[in-house]
Amino acid sequence: MLEGIGLGLRSPLAEALFADAPPALRWLEIHPENYLQRGGRYQSLLETARARFPLLTHGLSMGFGSLVPFDAQYLRGVRALCESLRVPWHSDHLCFSCVDGVYAHDLLPLPFDRESIAVCVDRVREARDALGVDIAIEHISYYVRPAGSILDEADHLTEILERADAKLLLDVNNVYVNAMNHGFDAYAFIDRLPLSRVVQVHVAGHLLRADGFRIDTHAEPVCEQVFALFEHTMKKLARPLPVLLERDDNFPDFAELVSEIERLDDIYQRALRACAPQRGQDGEVAL
Ligand SMILES: [Fe+2]
Repeated sequence: MLEGIGLGLRSPLAEALFADAPPALRWLEIHPENYLQRGGRYQSLLETARARFPLLTHGLSMGFGSLVPFDAQYLRGVRALCESLRVPWHSDHLCFSCVDGVYAHDLLPLPFDRESIAVCVDRVREARDALGVDIAIEHISYYVRPAGSILDEADHLTEILERADAKLLLDVNNVYVNAMNHGFDAYAFIDRLPLSRVVQVHVAGHLLRADGFRIDTHAEPVCEQVFALFEHTMKKLARPLPVLLERDDNFPDFAELVSEIERLDDIYQRALRACAPQRGQDGEVAL
């Protein structure tokens, strides 16, 4: 069973990762975009990684709210990668990135409205059929409330998950950043989500600007408030599952990442122990 703390496979980290991975590091996450139709160093990195760790795939290109048709070649490549790695699901983002052939190279927020729900439900189903694995949707961080929104974000996300019968990749840092920037309760937001659909969790650091605004950089250490929200989330989830420490830039010494991985693992193990009385002898959570 794939569970515990993971790290994103990034080439600047690879050497230290393969030499000094701590026991608490149980798996790695990869972006297919870094490996499709690429050989040489990237293929060799992927082969080394898969020989050492279980891998999960996390895409950046599907944009479940986009109006642009999926790229068939991309889908075939991701499907082949998912089959080769035997991943239990593939994840990508609830966003759009392209309009009229112009790519923003960013994850742009959808209006929280009925039209975007219909688009996302159809595209998630299409992606699942094309890839042949379950789809986990990750909700994004956003810096202005999307124009045209008539729904609450949690209701919008929940309806997409339920109508598409999709899994949820719950990003604790995204929830915290959005809650602080837009003035809602991060804990109440998580408690309202359909947590039985969560198959994977992300935790990351973000930038706190001098004016108090927060930017989801994945380039800073995880802050205390996000560690605390992660502990709350694990207690609510009350089951083992894969948890990723996202670090994409401004890489520190590997020892610093190891201490974050170990701290996340301590919280993860403590939360699961605290939930143990709810679990039967076979490990199933009692209803
Ligand atoms: Fe994330």
